Amino acid sequence: MKNIQKTYDLVIFGAKGDLACRKLLPSLYRLETMNKLSKNMRIIGVGRAKWNKTMYSSIVRKSLENFLKEKIEESIWHKFSIRLEFCDLDVNDTHSFVKLKQILGNENRVTINYFAMPPDTFGAICKGLGAINLNFEPTRIMIEKPLGSSLKTYQTINNEISKYFKENQIFRIDHYLGKETILNLLAFRFANSIFYYNWNKNFIDHVQITIAEEIGVEDRQGYFDNTGQIRDMVQNHLLQILTIITMSKPIDLCSDSIQNEKVKILKALRPFDKTHVNKKIILGQYSSGIMSGKNIPSYLDDIGNHVKSKTETFVSMKVNIDTEHWDGVPFYLRTGKRLPKKHSEIVIFFKPVPINIFNNHRHNLFKNKITIFLQPNEGINIQILNKVPELEFKYDLDTINLEFNYSKNFETLQLFDAYEKLLLEGIKGNRSLFVRRDEVELSWKWIDSIFNSLQEQKNSPILYSAGTCGPNVSNIMIQNDGYRWNEF
Ligand code: BG6
Repeated sequence: MKNIQKTYDLVIFGAKGDLACRKLLPSLYRLETMNKLSKNMRIIGVGRAKWNKTMYSSIVRKSLENFLKEKIEESIWHKFSIRLEFCDLDVNDTHSFVKLKQILGNENRVTINYFAMPPDTFGAICKGLGAINLNFEPTRIMIEKPLGSSLKTYQTINNEISKYFKENQIFRIDHYLGKETILNLLAFRFANSIFYYNWNKNFIDHVQITIAEEIGVEDRQGYFDNTGQIRDMVQNHLLQILTIITMSKPIDLCSDSIQNEKVKILKALRPFDKTHVNKKIILGQYSSGIMSGKNIPSYLDDIGNHVKSKTETFVSMKVNIDTEHWDGVPFYLRTGKRLPKKHSEIVIFFKPVPINIFNNHRHNLFKNKITIFLQPNEGINIQILNKVPELEFKYDLDTINLEFNYSKNFETLQLFDAYEKLLLEGIKGNRSLFVRRDEVELSWKWIDSIFNSLQEQKNSPILYSAGTCGPNVSNIMIQNDGYRWNEF
């Protein structure tokens, strides 16, 4: 039988929106510069506007001018703009999907549908695609958070989608999974025997994961005030990092093998309960402050003075993973907006050696520490103790840093944007960078345990000044366990 080569088309629902303009179009253009888009692939923007191809092209050009880091190259733009089409369509009007069908035409074309729209439209889009028979394999859909605000709302979204698409057609995005430093965690842990054998409760004392953001809520007041930092950052990005840092070695690099291991960790996350919640989780909200010499308004001012919102913009928490590997090892997570600078890191503290033979010179042999800098200065630092060179037989020990830095070690290579990788793999149909249904379900189940136990306490978040590392009680929480947050 003749093997018919399929041609792919990318359909972007929400073509006028922020995600499409800021992230998707610049990433697609970058893929074009790298010759990664197949020759005949079209990019079809879907939205409600009386635009034709020419008008849409000029809108896309503007987005690229605004959000692309480099200058547009005319020869690349020429190739890229030929791909562009626009479909004026109201996703709530199922009949109007025939317009999309007309544009797509040819039967041997496969569509990849990116839903760059709020999740309450996903059901309608799926229904519309179903009505024009565009929901069969190998068609796929790419969807992105917020995927619900609780287990129940997440399941509602999923149920809507799965009336039309099978799980292997659904590509759920967590853009952190497209970051090079996150992808490197698997190589770091599973390709290096010096770390591989020590990666468990016998050797690791505790772990800290921080995602600090300098920005506030920007222009997303409505979304953020209904969401808060736990749902916005912990349910997805932080939990993904935590699972990758703690999962056992997958049997191979196939998506299911990796996801199976992550799911085991998510199942083993100890749920929060109301008796301990106050000792294990701190919520904060930024008040006004000074950052880089500028006056920064409070969160309440950012969302409109009249509102007395209790939404958290900062959270720090102690997490336990009840597996044989991690029993007794605390994991401290923290993330917040309006912290001193953008900085994300994973810090692994190792247990000190059992008997200190250098006692005459140094009483405390500190805990070796591996810091994995996720962004913006990507790299890894390993802190060890080293003998200070001396003439006499003495063992003065000093802390030294073994450093790996992406920009120095891969000088000629660039780090690609997460969306470039995610779009490329999504177009190729590789599910390894995407999140499976049960992963999201289990993370929501755990997040629900936080909100259920907090609800009974009814505490307001504690204020912290913009430009600081969150409320002081967050320091006290970790100090009570005998630790300190890693300074950044
Ligand atoms: C998004 C959150 O998922 O991640 C934003 O909705 C947050 O609130 C952003 O600012 C952080 O992403 P990054 O890649 O800048 O760390």
